[in-house]
Amino acid sequence: MKFPRCIFFVFVLVFYIFTPHIEAVEADGPTEALINSICVENEDYGFCSKIIHEKLKAPTATLKELTGLIFHTATDQANDTYIFIDNILREWPGPKKKNCLKTCRAVYNRETTSFLEIRFLFSKGEYERMVKIIFSTAKILDRCRTDFLIPPYKDPLIEKKRVMRILITMSAVSGYMVKNGKASLIRSVVIPQIFSY
Ligand SMILES: *[C@@H]1O[C@H](CO)[C@@H](O)[C@H](O)[C@H]1NC(C)=O
Repeated sequence: MKFPRCIFFVFVLVFYIFTPHIEAVEADGPTEALINSICVENEDYGFCSKIIHEKLKAPTATLKELTGLIFHTATDQANDTYIFIDNILREWPGPKKKNCLKTCRAVYNRETTSFLEIRFLFSKGEYERMVKIIFSTAKILDRCRTDFLIPPYKDPLIEKKRVMRILITMSAVSGYMVKNGKASLIRSVVIPQIFSY
């Protein structure tokens, strides 16, 4: 009975090959403290911290490096979601719910261009305007309703919106700290202003 064992090894091999090997970089103490201050009041601390760790290139990162990384991730999430909705709209046969989807597509298009502008202002050191635009992205996001089903996707926009909201919160918190020149935050200054949880 050599056969089952052989199949077992093939399974293990296939499983190994298709498991994503994301090597999260171990952050040093000060960097970990920064990540903590960015994520501490987030609606999902674990997710916030995980996103940063996955994108970290080195054990040490400054507040500005972390902020740049967060803005980048937010841009990608907005852009990916925009493309996702655009593809659904292309395949979507009936007119039902089409307007909801079109609104969401416009929302994620604006999120993408807003985050490109946020990154431009960040690179120019125009932090005051940068923070204003980050706050506006939270209001824009609320216009995309997600409580409708899109067969066969069911309700794919709920999770995408949740991730976008987390990334906007992270952007607001770290952007605010950059603006203030302080790598720590007085509790609850930023978050109540952007989303009414
Ligand atoms: C959005 O994604 C498309 C397709 O992956 C890419 O070509 C485009 O450059 C992206 N835009 C931004 C702003 O990242």
